[in-house]
Amino acid sequence: MERLIEGVLKRYRGPGDIDENELEEVSASIENFLEYARRKDRPPIEKAIEIGKLLRSFGAPVEGYKLMMADAEYYREIGNERLYWNRLYYAHSFMVTGYPTQKIEEKLNEYIMALRRNKSYVYFLPLFLNVKGNILHIYREKYEEAEEVYKEALETIQTFDESHYSEFTMKDYHWSLKAIVNNYVDMLLKIERNQEQEKKLELLRGLLEEEEKELPYINLLSLINKAEIEISRKNLEVAERYLKEAVIKMDRKFEGFILPSVNRDYGLIWAIKGDIDKAVKYTIAAFGNSAYYGNSLTETESLEAILKIFSMLSNEVRGEDRFEFFKKKGLIDAFLNILSYKDWVLGAEHSPDVAQFSRLISEHLNFSKETKKSIGFAAMLHDVGKIMIPWYTLNKPAPPDEIDWDLIQAHVYEGYRIVKKLGFDREAEWILEHHERCDGSGYPLGKKNPSLESQVIAISDTFDAAISHGRRYRPPKTAEEVLEEIEADRGKFYPEVIEALRKALPSM
Ligand SMILES: [Fe+2]
Ligand SMILES: [Fe+2]
Repeated sequence: MERLIEGVLKRYRGPGDIDENELEEVSASIENFLEYARRKDRPPIEKAIEIGKLLRSFGAPVEGYKLMMADAEYYREIGNERLYWNRLYYAHSFMVTGYPTQKIEEKLNEYIMALRRNKSYVYFLPLFLNVKGNILHIYREKYEEAEEVYKEALETIQTFDESHYSEFTMKDYHWSLKAIVNNYVDMLLKIERNQEQEKKLELLRGLLEEEEKELPYINLLSLINKAEIEISRKNLEVAERYLKEAVIKMDRKFEGFILPSVNRDYGLIWAIKGDIDKAVKYTIAAFGNSAYYGNSLTETESLEAILKIFSMLSNEVRGEDRFEFFKKKGLIDAFLNILSYKDWVLGAEHSPDVAQFSRLISEHLNFSKETKKSIGFAAMLHDVGKIMIPWYTLNKPAPPDEIDWDLIQAHVYEGYRIVKKLGFDREAEWILEHHERCDGSGYPLGKKNPSLESQVIAISDTFDAAISHGRRYRPPKTAEEVLEEIEADRGKFYPEVIEALRKALPSM
């Protein structure tokens, strides 16, 4: 069983390597293996962690999480507490490279509380805290809380000596320490700078400087971090030197983690130099790398970079038409591009189609010219939050389970966050409501009476999904069939929106 799945996954360096028609077979192997892992009567899975890492590289970190959770459960049953905590740690560290939902975060908090009480496994505590810090600073943007967590992690680990790690089979003391420092620095770089922080940064930088031979990956991360410190100080030449060094020292094994960061940092460097075209080009390249290797964590980081570049740009727009401006500067194309890396149909067909349908439908409703334009823009980006969702979760040819479903639903909120950050508040609200339905049967809130604008996007979305070939499991329907279904299920959409769809149909 183990060797089989290992063999299958080792064929690919990342989702970029896989052919659409191979996916079915690979997915069946993954799902079978997960089912096997959940059995209580199986022998131990020797290479569980390696397989988890392979899943992560395959753009399936959530499956890595599921595997580790199944394995944790296995060890809990047979009373091996050490391996139970070990697998729990890996489960969450994989999930951090996917998308840690609220539920996952709550669970993690419970484990951390348990570790604070349970002194015999306290050496796991800094690692768990490190994961929590990551969630807080990368996904939730709660920097102060993240700082507290990293501080606790550092303080805890500094009271240990290497003897605590004698049976620590996951990573040694130095690895953990540096991983925490790297993340702490990364977090400090995201907040407004003042002298106090500058001091902290210098202190941590000292810790990054000590090179250790056996930590090539961590040392590469440190180089990236040092480059980012210099970028934030606008010492661009020094930063470039670090980045070049990282590229030279980069082992193929680490490409998937390092390349996206290097390209993203070049994007920021060009933005500071004022060459926006190049800035956008490099940031998109970073996304391309992340997508190829299925690395959602670096995608999240690249997303932040691109948002930063565009907010630098939007400061320049005064009185000009902001949509046109962003379009001209390539923002829309950039997002569609990124979405296509993740899910080809989504970026290349679904998003432009939904935008087109929404525009046509709003012609038959009483909106101002400006609102119609806004609806088109919001519709184009309605699923942009899916950038945050791992590749396999979006593309797996099997029905989503509860965990997947939880993740997929998060695209609504993430889309809201992205568009809001670009300064489009109204449009962000509509995106937040594009899966809500008038009768309260939608998600994420089950809100009754969502805005009319959001429902134009919602009906276009439903319509496009039903008539396209892109989705698996069911043949596409004709426009008339879909309209009939929508009408039969009247409560879900506003009558005037259904009416507008009917009127728009001939032009769609
Ligand atoms: Fe959606
Ligand atoms: Fe959609």
